Amino acid sequence: MFTTILVGDSGVGKTSLLVQFDTGKFTQEGFAATVGIGFMNKVVEVDGAKVKLQVWDTAGQERFRSVTHAYYRDAHGNKCDRSEDRVVQSDDGERLAREFNVVFMETSAKTGMNVELAFSAIARDLLHRRLYPNGGTFNVKQFVEARSEHSPACACAT
Ligand code: GTP
Repeated sequence: MFTTILVGDSGVGKTSLLVQFDTGKFTQEGFAATVGIGFMNKVVEVDGAKVKLQVWDTAGQERFRSVTHAYYRDAHGNKCDRSEDRVVQSDDGERLAREFNVVFMETSAKTGMNVELAFSAIARDLLHRRLYPNGGTFNVKQFVEARSEHSPACACAT
């Protein structure tokens, strides 16, 4: 089992992303704002192996920051179906990801774009790290880039 965490400002769609991943469904009304922190378990298959992901969903509201801040510093993303209201430019996301040496992806909890891919890439990466602690051949960036869908307004350089 591996533990992962969803972080970001209130209303960016963390709970929606988790529900889309879990059930394949989206509701425009959304959910009551998350209080503190919660989690959901989901089993994904990686090359025939079953990997249990425990995905933590944090509250984005400011008043819960003291609870959730211990887990992260900053995050942006999601809702890439709303291209006309884009807040974070793809280039900026790409740059930040390069700076922190992490993979950059754009998702939509509404259309499901890249949702399954995001979690399966995480599961695969974590499994490989566990199996080959001294470094294996799996490259999560290449895995994601080969499979990512891009939104119409996405100016990704991949
Ligand atoms: P907190 O629990 O307060 O931290 O919020 P959250 O980040 O969990 O946001 P939530 O999932 O409750 O979504 C907030 C609103 O954004 C809801 O009205 C959702 O329907 C909407 N929403 C979430 N994801 C998407 C998306 O990918 N596209 C669009 N168009 N709307 C989305």
